[in-house]
Amino acid sequence: MPAVEHLTRHDAFLLRGDGFAYALAVTPEGDLRHLHWGGPIAPDDVATLLTDDPREFGSNTWSSPRAHTEELVAHGGRRLDESALKVEFADGVRALDLAVESSAVSDDELTIRLADRHYPFAADLHYRVRGGALERWTTLVNDGDAAVVLDRAYSASWPLPWQPRWVATWLAGAYAAETQVTRRPLGPGRLVLESRRGIPGHAAQPWLALDAGDDARTNDEAGSVWSVALAWSGSWRLAAELAADGRLHVTAGVNDFDLRHPLAPGSSWDTPVTVGVYAGAGHDELTDRWHAYERRHVVPRPGVVRPVLYNSWEATFFDVRPESQVELARRAAALGAELFVVDDGWFAGRDDESAGIGDWTPDRAAFPDGLKPLADEVHGLGMRFGVWVEPEAVSPDSDLFRAHPDWIYQWPSRPRTLARQTHLLALSRADVRAHLVETLDALLSSAPIDALKWDLNRPLTEVSDGDGDGSVWLGHVEGFYEVLDRVRALHPDVWIESCASGGGRADLGVLSRAEWVWPSDNTDALERLAIQNGYAYAHSPHTMMAWVTDSPTYLTKREIPLRFRFHSAMTGLLGIGGDLATWTDAALGEAAEYVAQYRRIRATVQYGTMRRLTGAPDDVTAIGYLSASGDQVAVFAFAPSVRRLRRTVLLRLRGLDPAAAYVDAATGTRYSGALLHHHGLRVALTGDYASELIVLDRD
Ligand code: DGJ
Repeated sequence: MPAVEHLTRHDAFLLRGDGFAYALAVTPEGDLRHLHWGGPIAPDDVATLLTDDPREFGSNTWSSPRAHTEELVAHGGRRLDESALKVEFADGVRALDLAVESSAVSDDELTIRLADRHYPFAADLHYRVRGGALERWTTLVNDGDAAVVLDRAYSASWPLPWQPRWVATWLAGAYAAETQVTRRPLGPGRLVLESRRGIPGHAAQPWLALDAGDDARTNDEAGSVWSVALAWSGSWRLAAELAADGRLHVTAGVNDFDLRHPLAPGSSWDTPVTVGVYAGAGHDELTDRWHAYERRHVVPRPGVVRPVLYNSWEATFFDVRPESQVELARRAAALGAELFVVDDGWFAGRDDESAGIGDWTPDRAAFPDGLKPLADEVHGLGMRFGVWVEPEAVSPDSDLFRAHPDWIYQWPSRPRTLARQTHLLALSRADVRAHLVETLDALLSSAPIDALKWDLNRPLTEVSDGDGDGSVWLGHVEGFYEVLDRVRALHPDVWIESCASGGGRADLGVLSRAEWVWPSDNTDALERLAIQNGYAYAHSPHTMMAWVTDSPTYLTKREIPLRFRFHSAMTGLLGIGGDLATWTDAALGEAAEYVAQYRRIRATVQYGTMRRLTGAPDDVTAIGYLSASGDQVAVFAFAPSVRRLRRTVLLRLRGLDPAAAYVDAATGTRYSGALLHHHGLRVALTGDYASELIVLDRD
């Protein structure tokens, strides 16, 4: 079955991937009509859909055409619904009138050119089937001899089929409380999720799922769910617009807030990719499809198991000295860590937040011979070595800023906003990008550095790099991608962690350039269960770093036992971030056992099928992982406090082979897959902060 078919008799197109189909057609008038997005259909069904008359009661108050019938809602005519594209031509006209001009089909890709009926301007709509996901983006082409200003250029509009009711699921949050699962019925009007910060931000992820609601129609195991994400590491906007008659469409793209992007004569601009994933079997299947998409088509080094990390931030903060780092490294290596990362504070002038960012040379007193001796020491302990950087920021008290005060975003007549005592370098400028590539190349060449934690701790403000147009919102992200891509090309063996004050930059755009994400500064193991639960709706656990830190953590002051802390972190990428110099021998011994246990199950956790075995985490949280081969099952269960005299929970392990048998390696108990699937696994959770990890091997 080809992924993309042109049904020439009807001038229609059918795109089919894992478990979904998407269909569209060119009308006799040259418009591009949306026909279907949902479960699989056949070519003959498309012919039937074409006989389906989408016209509705002709009220002058409705948008015409209705947004859910169009592949691209371009501002112009009587389009009153949320549009995806709005431009201004040189003569001041701000309306578009697009018609299909051509189409091109390759194996898994379709491109349709919509050309303006009057101006030499076109929008190429791209569709690409990627397993269970459909990628869409738009290329805007100015073939004229005057600039066309893009006021709004979303990546796509996504029409959804009518349902009696809609419920939205999204991942909202804040600093240290990212990705909280939020679920609300949609009412007529618009649900707008967005960031205006220049980075994706903590307030919401560029990800949204929509289903027909909880009235027995949709749950984890059943029901249709549609979802949309945006691969963009800057300001973004997702809007779900529900008309009073239940028609719904979603727009996704770069935020048009303050955006004015002049498209020069003869030039074109590609919007970022928006990804649509449909699941016909509830949120379990939706999660599987997002994880599979990230693993196969997005994140670098697919299939490679991620190392156990040690990061020094919470142990030493800015007080980075070689002796204490070496001591931490020795203890981390003894626990079984495989990568040792020195966080903020290793470079010249960095005694606190007030200075040093931008120069990226090791502190002379601490590292007179550079980072090489420490890197060698860490390598000698059998670990890889990494450092923290914040390349886009600059401290006013830095050599870089003194040499190039004009390299930051600023308005000449306005005060400059400091955030965490830094300015933002104008990565929209070619000279700044070149400088950063050179600086990072020099750093990575100065010592055997295997990993970078790439952080950004401030929003974009004063969005001007001297040119005075509103393109900086795009230029910064494009500059960030270019620098990252060039550094990766120069140092292909270096692994990158994406961070922005925790989970402020965890989108599909950065994940195509980073091996994993730091989802939150909140390392409280209980808070983390909620953050990680939400994170894993949109992203694969193999991108989700989680450290075990000291108890209490500096942010929440909550005391949590070591076992619970380890189990919580073991549900993603296990890292350790505590001050190991203060851990007792007993704690270190216990920790080494957890690390060894994690290494035995990590391929299952990182690359297996994940199941949320309980609802939203409140009382008991349980998560199950089934390895890709089906041979290993890892079940984690957590209960922060004893409630209602509960001593055990019964966890139904969905997705096991009912005909197979599974053995608990620790107790020797043998279960049938049918029993585990239909009845459940009994897990004892006694006392406050109880947690269990049960590993079952297929017999
Ligand atoms: C913010 C990050 O989220 C932290 O993990 C740490 O790297 C600090 N920045 C360092 O300044």
